[in-house]
Amino acid sequence: MNDTVPHPAPPAHTHCTPEEYAAMYRRSLADPDGFWLEQAKRLDWMRAPTRGGEWSFEPPQIAWFADGSLNMCHNAVDRHLAAHGDETAFIFEPDDPAAPGSTLTYRELHAEVVRMANALKALGVRKGDRVTIYMPMITLGAVAMLACARLGAVHSVVFGGFSPESIAGRIQDCESRFVVTADEGLRAGKTIPLKANVDAALDLPGVAVEGVLVIAHTGKAVPMKEGRDHRYADLVSDADCPCEEMAAEDPLFILYTSGSTGKPKGVLHTTGGYAVWAATTFRHTFDYQPGEVFWCSADIGWVTGHTYVTYGPLLNGGTSLIFEGVPNYPDHGRFWQVIAKHRVNIFYTAPTAIRALMREGNGWVAAHDRSSLRLLGTVGEPINPEAWRWYHDVVGEGRCPVVDTWWQTETGGHMITTLPYAHDMKPGSAGLPFFGVQPVLVDAEGQPVGGEGVIEGNLCIAASWPGQARTVYGDHARFTEAYFSTFPGKYFTGDGARRDADGYWWITGRVDDVINVSGHRMGTAEVESALVLHPCVAEAAVVGYPHDIKGQGIYCYVTLMEGVEASDALATELRQWVRKEIGPIATPDHLHFTDGLPKTRSGKIMRRILRKIAENDYGALGDTSTLADPSLVDRLVEGRQNRG
Ligand code: WTA
Repeated sequence: MNDTVPHPAPPAHTHCTPEEYAAMYRRSLADPDGFWLEQAKRLDWMRAPTRGGEWSFEPPQIAWFADGSLNMCHNAVDRHLAAHGDETAFIFEPDDPAAPGSTLTYRELHAEVVRMANALKALGVRKGDRVTIYMPMITLGAVAMLACARLGAVHSVVFGGFSPESIAGRIQDCESRFVVTADEGLRAGKTIPLKANVDAALDLPGVAVEGVLVIAHTGKAVPMKEGRDHRYADLVSDADCPCEEMAAEDPLFILYTSGSTGKPKGVLHTTGGYAVWAATTFRHTFDYQPGEVFWCSADIGWVTGHTYVTYGPLLNGGTSLIFEGVPNYPDHGRFWQVIAKHRVNIFYTAPTAIRALMREGNGWVAAHDRSSLRLLGTVGEPINPEAWRWYHDVVGEGRCPVVDTWWQTETGGHMITTLPYAHDMKPGSAGLPFFGVQPVLVDAEGQPVGGEGVIEGNLCIAASWPGQARTVYGDHARFTEAYFSTFPGKYFTGDGARRDADGYWWITGRVDDVINVSGHRMGTAEVESALVLHPCVAEAAVVGYPHDIKGQGIYCYVTLMEGVEASDALATELRQWVRKEIGPIATPDHLHFTDGLPKTRSGKIMRRILRKIAENDYGALGDTSTLADPSLVDRLVEGRQNRG
């Protein structure tokens, strides 16, 4: 825990030395309104806000800058035109390294966003409408987000790896009447049938939309439904399309994310607070300098892609690289080749990718020039110190500070991270709270855990910050229940954490029924519901277990219907079934057929025991005497050991 890597000496350009951080952090807590109203000046407001945070967590009601108005797209694009119109906004690197990439200057991006906004208008989209975006990782995906923001429409981006069932659920939940998609996506040389998936989603009962906008990406001929589907090229126009004036608290986007219960939640972010948070965190965490090339490898279907591929970089007038491919195609040097090709200065990726590439050896890294790199970042899951070291020493040649950024879909942007030239780094620790963030630990009873030394508990945030989600779309009661009821008066993150004697935060992982697979959140309840839909399955219980590359793997205990025999063929079929129901990221790693699930006499499944067995940790099974059938545990342990 006391393995410390000193921060490099602050370069002349930096906007945050150690002393500045300490002073700014103190001020952000002592006078949050003054501090954030000042940060809000990074943006162009149509009406400048005079009010800061107006919020309560009991019950949750959250507003920031409520008397201000602005447009996100104006701030991300239009306002840079006068002084920086010819600078690069996006660099696109395709899946196939031999295929031509492209770049868009701010002026070109503006023209493209206007064209897309006009196409959306022609489709029927108006201010306040929800628009589902199901796109490959191409520039037009980000353009679609910006075009929605321009019109005041609320985007709901659905990750291109999700199934038709998942798309349908998300369309229905937010009553979206419009979809933006592409013919196909490309990943590792394989095509992804995006339009066909949308068609399948819209064929499901009870799902109807008015218009589908189809972008030609691979050029594959796709069926077009008369009256509903429109080719992008047929609807675009260069007509003038002004930015809508939006109140700071008008919604900007909905993004679905997994929770411990039920279906994914539509986390809602509003315009002003989110914009201030995205702009401020991007600038400080990455110490972004004009002209630098920033590459965040996340897909725009996740919050990381929203805040650090699209909005954060553009709000700062930066250059953001959009990569359609994967780290190991056509070979394990692909990331480093892209860094060399585009002279990337700041690289931001997930620990799972780092672990997977580390395993392939240093040769792939050494083969490519990384002298352009200045800063490295990670996000999505705890990083093990070994992977951190490799990233820092081998990828960054020991020269580049590493920022390990802890945050969530619900937080809008970074919450805990070291700042590159202000804080020493500790491999495996996310570091210190960002401005305005007040992390606190509470025990199982909700009592604060305090003291000067090392403390551990459930991670909560004591006070609101501008980037905080405002509600769950259409279900404020669920927002209250999920985040503010376990520990009343505080925002509960769902994570466990430790704070060391130096004030550094160490995230220990989820403490709820959410698992983190390759940096993606997956609700165990979602996988269970998918499994029990299969006619052979009687009951299912799903838990996470440690996985070398993915961080956590998906372990499924399944009981079968009377008369159905367990077999390897059935296991394969169930894996495929879950993939089809949710998407490839939910594919079970382990299927464990059992004749029963450990339950209390009142019928509650004892997940603690299932987790321990999945972890191969039999010494810690605890008291099993309250089980309805204590001998079941022995049979489960035997089943686990037989599987290796
Ligand atoms: C986990 C992704 C440790 C955490 C931005 C959180 C992390 C969940 C880190 C949110 C990190 C994210 N260290 N754990 N640096 N970053 N997490 O909503 O469990 O997809 O609650 O947002 O990822 O996942 P989400």
